[in-house]
Amino acid sequence: MKVLFLGDIVGRKARNYAQKKIVELKEQFQLDAIIVNVENAAGGFGVTPSICDDFFLAGADVLTTGNHVWDKREIISYISKSDRLLRPLNMIKGTPGLGMTIVKIKSGTLGVANIMTNLFMVPTDSVFKKIPEIVNNLKLEQNVDFSLIDVHGEASSEKMAIANALDGKVSAVVGTHTHVPTADHQILEKGTAYITDVGMSGDYDSIIGMKKDDALNRFMFPENKKTRLEVSSGEPTLCGVLIESDTNGLSKSINPLRLGGKLEQVILK
Ligand SMILES: [Fe+2]
Ligand SMILES: [Fe+2]
Repeated sequence: MKVLFLGDIVGRKARNYAQKKIVELKEQFQLDAIIVNVENAAGGFGVTPSICDDFFLAGADVLTTGNHVWDKREIISYISKSDRLLRPLNMIKGTPGLGMTIVKIKSGTLGVANIMTNLFMVPTDSVFKKIPEIVNNLKLEQNVDFSLIDVHGEASSEKMAIANALDGKVSAVVGTHTHVPTADHQILEKGTAYITDVGMSGDYDSIIGMKKDDALNRFMFPENKKTRLEVSSGEPTLCGVLIESDTNGLSKSINPLRLGGKLEQVILK
């Protein structure tokens, strides 16, 4: 299978660009599935029901999120009824929505889980304790043909540890949240595709997607806690990875994709 994963969509310009490109890329690469992290899609903070609907209409199969999932309150009732919009699996018991899903796609069955790390992140249940639940529920060559885990977190050490714990058991582990792409995309020893962070889909002439002056002020003058952050309005770069799996569900290749804006470079074989 060929699967496209796009990193954190930040703001309107990036999401309009992403939705347009999804349609083209699906055709160009004969994609079997498209998964998008949308935690910053609504003005940089959270996501709304209509934004989710637009992504599904454009061709996304499953949407993932992270610590910003609840920034727009109207998403609570939507996520409660959805099996295609995920919030981190290790949020406390009773949290609305799903953290893991299995959906039918044209060419088979797709399993996706969204987890959030513990270091430097809002408190959640231990991310490592959730690994058995993922392994027991998403079984390659049994109930899923392809499985992807979005590991949302700050610390590269934790993301790599999780990826190695899942190596050989899932098709891909992809990192999100830092909004900066890493250059370590690889197939791990036992066949799982991995990247520490795919990077955001947003304006890279910014501080992780936000206007530079506002974000800088927050660091320079922490006493002015009220400085509002606004999405930087330059041309967005779409950052993602294209993963190709084998018949056994493990991966053959993972290639980064960067389209438009400051970081544009297409690194596809
Ligand atoms: Fe994000
Ligand atoms: Fe995040």
